[in-house]
Amino acid sequence: MTTLKLNNGLEIPSIGLGTWKSKPGEVRDAVATALRAGYRHIDCAWIYGNEREVGEGLREVFEEGTLSREEVWITSKLWNDRHAPEDVGPALQESLDNLGLEYLDLYLIHWPVAHRRGTVLPKTADEQLSLDERPLAETWKAMEELVDERRCRSIGVSNLSRKKLEGLLPATRIRPAMNQVELHPYLQQPDLVEYCKKENILLTAYSPLGSRDRASAMKGDDEPVLLEDPVVNAIAERHGSPARVLIAWALARGTVVIPKSVNRERIRHNLTAAEVALSEEEMNQLAKLDRARRYVTGAFWALENGPYTMDKLWDE
Ligand code: A2P
Repeated sequence: MTTLKLNNGLEIPSIGLGTWKSKPGEVRDAVATALRAGYRHIDCAWIYGNEREVGEGLREVFEEGTLSREEVWITSKLWNDRHAPEDVGPALQESLDNLGLEYLDLYLIHWPVAHRRGTVLPKTADEQLSLDERPLAETWKAMEELVDERRCRSIGVSNLSRKKLEGLLPATRIRPAMNQVELHPYLQQPDLVEYCKKENILLTAYSPLGSRDRASAMKGDDEPVLLEDPVVNAIAERHGSPARVLIAWALARGTVVIPKSVNRERIRHNLTAAEVALSEEEMNQLAKLDRARRYVTGAFWALENGPYTMDKLWDE
């Protein structure tokens, strides 16, 4: 398994198993299958509602005795209603307890969006807090303390624009090691990729396969289907499958990538993308597919008269 070096010197396995949308009844087997197949990185989050079952899958394999906790990279994420500094440590502890772990390898602020404590998904704007009321820099200080306490080895962010990173960096004592964002050939974000490279912040590409299994409320009517893209499919004739092409594309750009699957064959298949070498010509063809198309639009945070609009969320 290839790794990428974070700005704190640690190495993160380049392909991780995504667990967003994996149902509790399916994810234990998915995690155990992935680890037995050679995955060494599992991407989790409190909001996915399945951390307990992810933990069961981890335990199942650790108990076999051939793989130890230290050999696996485990990421989780702080939910939006726990941004108050005093809530950050207990939120991490909840994820650790769910997962049955003593420490995380990486803990991320999941969204640059804050809710009132106890509001998991806000329905009205009065359940939200603006970033002026709940600044990311203050949440970040509490994240830094988790590293001091050795409860997680690295900290980072997710869904942050270049502008928000630029705002956060001067306020940090420990720099974010990671920004996890949506990245695939339809959403290539060249400016953000270049900026993060310059600032030595790694990117993780989420929804690398286009996340077709999102809830219908999160889907647009006329959404282009990434896995069915004709260019991706033409290239796939030489490399085995569209999924392999998309994962190899993410690796070729120097990003970590976290394809989600709960199917044993597809879990194993996706890991083999590490063997795919795309030619310069193929990378050029894929570069032309960019259409700045988000599948995870964040529209659910843009509530009437609320502090978050799509423009402010992505700074676009
Ligand atoms: P499944 O879990 O049944 O395998 P993303 O990683 O972009 O969120 O995409 C996840 C979606 O892609 C899920 O619907 C998942 O289904 C599907 N998927 C995962 N691996 C493959 C693959 N190799 N080929 C086709 N679809 C895949």
